[in-house]
Amino acid sequence: MAGRIPQSFIDDLLDRADIVEVVDRRVKLKKTGKNYSARCPFHDEKTPSFSVNPDKQFYYCFGCGAGGNALGFLMDYENLDFPRAVETLADSVGLQVPHEETAPSQAQRGQRELYPLLEEVAAFYQQQLRQHPQKSEAVDYLKGRGLNGAIAKRYDMGFAPPGWHNLLSKLGTDETRKSQLLKTGMLVTNEAGRTYDRFRHRVVFPIRDQRGRVIAFGGRVLGDDKPKYLNSPETEIFHKGRELYGLYQARQANRQLQRIIVVEGYMDVIALAQHGISNAAATLGTATSQIHLDKIYRLCPEVVFCFDGDDAGRKAATRALENALSCMQDGRQARFLFLPEGEDPDTLVRSQGAEKFKQLVENATPLEQFLFDSLGQGLDLDSMDGRARLSKLAAPLLAKIPVGVYKQLMFKALAQRTGLDAEALQELVGIPPPAPPEPPQRVPTAKPRRRTALASSPTGFGNLTQSATALLLHRPDIAGRVGDFNALRELEGDDIALLIELLELLQRRPESNTAMILGHWYGTPAGERLNQLASQERLIPAEGIEKQFHDTIELLMQHPKRQNLDARVDKLKDKNYAEISELEKLEIIQGLQEKQRLDQERGK
Ligand code: UTP
Ligand code: MN
Repeated sequence: MAGRIPQSFIDDLLDRADIVEVVDRRVKLKKTGKNYSARCPFHDEKTPSFSVNPDKQFYYCFGCGAGGNALGFLMDYENLDFPRAVETLADSVGLQVPHEETAPSQAQRGQRELYPLLEEVAAFYQQQLRQHPQKSEAVDYLKGRGLNGAIAKRYDMGFAPPGWHNLLSKLGTDETRKSQLLKTGMLVTNEAGRTYDRFRHRVVFPIRDQRGRVIAFGGRVLGDDKPKYLNSPETEIFHKGRELYGLYQARQANRQLQRIIVVEGYMDVIALAQHGISNAAATLGTATSQIHLDKIYRLCPEVVFCFDGDDAGRKAATRALENALSCMQDGRQARFLFLPEGEDPDTLVRSQGAEKFKQLVENATPLEQFLFDSLGQGLDLDSMDGRARLSKLAAPLLAKIPVGVYKQLMFKALAQRTGLDAEALQELVGIPPPAPPEPPQRVPTAKPRRRTALASSPTGFGNLTQSATALLLHRPDIAGRVGDFNALRELEGDDIALLIELLELLQRRPESNTAMILGHWYGTPAGERLNQLASQERLIPAEGIEKQFHDTIELLMQHPKRQNLDARVDKLKDKNYAEISELEKLEIIQGLQEKQRLDQERGK
């Protein structure tokens, strides 16, 4: 077997090849500004959302999220594995691929091999739903929930039969496959060292990523046993906080998605589809994150969140609201639908029918109304105090909305409700007087430009980390001038770890360019992350990149201070206005202004 291809060769190769040429030979490109565009070869579309950036040697599709460097393009377009893609690319620039003695590392090849294996798992469970001696239990269960065979097929539903070793003995046929099945979480090893099937005696739902690859499973018991649902654990290829169940099928079923309905459960998605409502997707037992929303808004302009009408539902709605605000750039919409207590989309659509459900969706509460109503709850808006309190609560939330007409309108709406004028309110949070809306940006796509945060890290510094990383990807040379960045090591999270690694690499190899960096991490989760960040143009200011980068790193290093401020503002929300001391008010307002100033400095 050929040995490992040296990283230095891959770096060199990516440096020498031109992605525009590589792509253009396969998909005709058109020059649009400094980029090139085309209709995306990886999904079906009428208008071009596929764009190739010659500076960064990088392609990205705003429609389906595919993206990568020249090698990634070759792999996906020609369906090649990594070594083959390297060979193809090397041939095209007249280089000979050298091989090191060592075998390729398991970790590097490992991840790609999990996808076809999970496809086999899905096929196995589907086959069990058709053939297993106890299949009728599962079939009857699904029928009892009003589902027919066509829907079961569309969602590739299957049956994990009773017993501990069905999957293990069918697919875990050698040690490699066994260890891969363990990696995907489909097999579990207990403390005694015994390995067995995770999903047993359940109907199962394959979870597909945006490209339709099976990345995980959910499974439901057939009766009232606990736990009702079991999900795959977090794995190299599955992160709950960023996947939505049913999003892939929703795209398949709709040529042009107008909106996505976000629901809570697998069965809600499927029941709605059974009733012809094929644009629902479910979070996987987590709150709706900014990553989720970012994914959705790349596909369509509107989200309708669907919640139970109880307290838990309202709480979930409030969290969704807070995450949605920073995604609400002009042209996007979010609305909230609260179902009657005790109902979920599944029960409701079955008892009342699709028309009724659609009507509820049409009449869902707009974000602005939900925001003002929920903040205003318990406040006496006829009193000065009540109105002042409302403005204090609402202003920092409205400040999260990206600059644009919508933001201005929201401040106007707040002004109307509080009797304060909009500009005074904005000054309260340190926003300068209204600026004209931003000019249209580069146009490979008719879709609204994304300005959504990729991730909100639990402690709230995720955005900073991402912009620092994106800036480095864009201008690797600026890493050299960072001094001591040890304070970063006190922060936690994958993104920060990646940023530190990147800084270290770039200080070691100052000559690296974007393609070389992407090549360095190719095929790893970190590589995926970098791909995503490299395509986030919103994180890149037009000028002053170096200064912004240094400010961002500075901010990250002082992060604990900011966290403190966030906590104080949160506390304020729970207090009565009368209980807040003048000093506290002053402190908070100054704090908010400071934060806003810092945010603006980094070109938010
Ligand atoms: P619900 O408990 O609301 O269930 O869980 P449901 O969707 O109405 O389920 P049915 O109608 O009884 O079948 C909603 C979602 O929360 C996660 C699952 O993702 C589920 O779809 N969940 C729930 C779990 O992960 N584990 C559980 O035990 C329960
Ligand atoms: Mn339900």
